[in-house]
Amino acid sequence: MVDMRRDASASRSALLDVLTRRPAARRPMWFMRQAGRYLPEYRAVREKAGSFLDLCYNPELAAEVTVQPLRRYDLDAAILFADILVVPHAMGLSLKFEEGEGPVLQTVRSLDELAALKPVAQSHEVKQVCRTVALTRSQLGPDKALIGFCGAPWTVASYMIAGGSSDRVVAKIAAYQRQDWFCALIDRLVAESVDYLCAQADAGAQAVQIFDSWAGDLVGTELDDFVLKPIGAIIAGVRRRHPDLPVIVFARGIGAHQSRAAALPGANAIGIETEFDPSLLPADVVVQGNLDPVALLAGEKVVQKEVERICASLDRRRHIFNLGHGIRLGTEPAVVGAVVDAVRRFDG
Ligand code: CP3
Repeated sequence: MVDMRRDASASRSALLDVLTRRPAARRPMWFMRQAGRYLPEYRAVREKAGSFLDLCYNPELAAEVTVQPLRRYDLDAAILFADILVVPHAMGLSLKFEEGEGPVLQTVRSLDELAALKPVAQSHEVKQVCRTVALTRSQLGPDKALIGFCGAPWTVASYMIAGGSSDRVVAKIAAYQRQDWFCALIDRLVAESVDYLCAQADAGAQAVQIFDSWAGDLVGTELDDFVLKPIGAIIAGVRRRHPDLPVIVFARGIGAHQSRAAALPGANAIGIETEFDPSLLPADVVVQGNLDPVALLAGEKVVQKEVERICASLDRRRHIFNLGHGIRLGTEPAVVGAVVDAVRRFDG
């Protein structure tokens, strides 16, 4: 006889269950940067695609690398293969990824430069990303969730202002001085991010993550006005069109202010970096994280110990297992498998 309960749990995503506070079949798990150069099958597709951006805008190949980690590992979610810099690129700024150097992006540092930018919604870039979303969703079973994402306004603005990843000081100065073009840029990125995330949800993304990788740059009223409020505004904007879409906020490095991020209306879960102690968060918050990606370079024994420490400290009903930041280049694929096994073993 078919066990209906088991069938029911297998046909639903544990990730979506935890995000929406329903009983979940198990502790959900996925990893930031789970698709990437540490996987030989990724490197093969990347070579076929040409450049990293060619891969991002090729729906067949981007969908393929999105699902690759789920073929290897018993994960609960795929994350769309794209980049946070798709938004400024779709707005019309030139973008290149230099091998070994990171992104090189055309800069915006005035109201005139800002006014010349296009809305992302009808752009070729966003259409291609949405095709990837739809194609990926069609390749995943019902127990695997598809996560869409965007960068938060502060992090994306800091790349747009610096012209790449090298120097965020110039962006911080603009924030402290509250330059008119800087404030307008943040507002514009809020609006474009809402449209971008809604387009991903329309195409089949079942949850979204907002990455504010450089949130820890700001403090005081600048943290409020350029990190927390813009993220809150994106969530509110997305909620108007997709009231039930779960949103995960990863605002790296904001320490004790995480509790305020946790209180953002509509944030279903808070992603935390390795250095953050989850016991500082209110007990009812859904926490995502926070295994050190460097522990994966230290080998399977270290991974085992760290997985046990993290799982023991977090109630599995309110925990999404993840890393504190993305998987690093040079990580052994077998060690990623050891993380997955250790989490599943811990939960029995
Ligand atoms: O997590 C995933 O597997 C989904 C895909 C994804 C990528 N980038 C692919 C990528 C996601 C969610 C991102 C987010 C992203 N991109 C962030 C926020 C998260 C974080 O890491 O803090 C940021 C800051 C970026 C900007 C970015 N993209 C940089 C600085 C670089 C160059 C540095 C590097 O790691 O190479 C990228 C390139 C990038 N984005 C790669 C991948 C797989 C490597 C490109 C390659 O294959 O050559």
